[in-house]
Amino acid sequence: MEAVRDAGVVVTGAGGGIGAALARRFAAAGARVVVNDLDGVKARVVAEEIGGVAVPGDASAIVAEARDVLDGRVDVYCANAGLASGGTEAADEKVWALAWDVNVMAHVRAAHELIPDWLERGSGRFVSTVSAAGLLTMVGAAPYSVTKHGAYAFAEWLSLTYRHRGVKVHAICPQGVRTDMLANTGSAGDLVLQPTAIEPEAVADALFAGIEEDRFLILPHPEVAGYYQARATDPDRWLTNMNHIQQKWEADDR
Ligand SMILES: NC(=O)c1ccc[n+]([C@@H]2O[C@H](COP(=O)([O-])OP(=O)(O)OC[C@H]3O[C@@H](n4cnc5c(N)ncnc54)[C@H](O)[C@@H]3O)[C@@H](O)[C@H]2O)c1
Repeated sequence: MEAVRDAGVVVTGAGGGIGAALARRFAAAGARVVVNDLDGVKARVVAEEIGGVAVPGDASAIVAEARDVLDGRVDVYCANAGLASGGTEAADEKVWALAWDVNVMAHVRAAHELIPDWLERGSGRFVSTVSAAGLLTMVGAAPYSVTKHGAYAFAEWLSLTYRHRGVKVHAICPQGVRTDMLANTGSAGDLVLQPTAIEPEAVADALFAGIEEDRFLILPHPEVAGYYQARATDPDRWLTNMNHIQQKWEADDR
């Protein structure tokens, strides 16, 4: 694809799952890819496989190093690293803080470093791996749902603020994707996400279709558009239906 050939691309959390699929897809399209992951071994394995460069570490603080690796220029930044923090409002303060830091603030910090360059050049692409939970809210996962809504809002804000200045933003909002994260999501994931789970490669396909069509909202599960519309049209009805899922989960879990 012309839009990404030779582009300098960074993918965070790319040692496995969706991030690795994105990294492979960008590399196959001719991009130069920086593979970031907190787990250095996993980052190096994927980087070696795709002919990219591993930059291990916390996704919050890798833009400068990635830019150096890419000869001074990041064209595409995929803010993909994320944590599936389950729990209720009573979740530990540390759980809330970590979810906030990885799922939202890492995106804010990266954008803060990338945007000045992109505005000067009049181009740049920010890809946020959000989740359908950022549009719809996930049962049993308050910190995840709240921070993914935050990530979605931040992506929207970037797009509406800079779209006339050449910055393109995509928000990927899948439901279940067969990765380690989904495998560890427990009974709520089994009930809500597993039945319609897709492969990580399908998420990469959906992103590339969205890039081609210049679309902000990327829905690897197209049915999410209908759920999102139903939520906006009749919030109480939607909440009642979601509460039925909550009750089923509680009954199954007993
Ligand atoms: N799997 C799903 O069902 C699903 C659905 C919707 C959205 N998502 C989102 O997709 C993204 C990727 O998830 P996945 O399913 O591939 O998960 P995964 O757990 O398989 O992979 C995530 C990777 O991110 C790395 N990581 C975690 N914290 C990091 C940090 N601070 N800095 C750098 N790397 C870090 C992990 O080491 C891991 O390799 C996440 O943002 C997740 O919320 C996943």
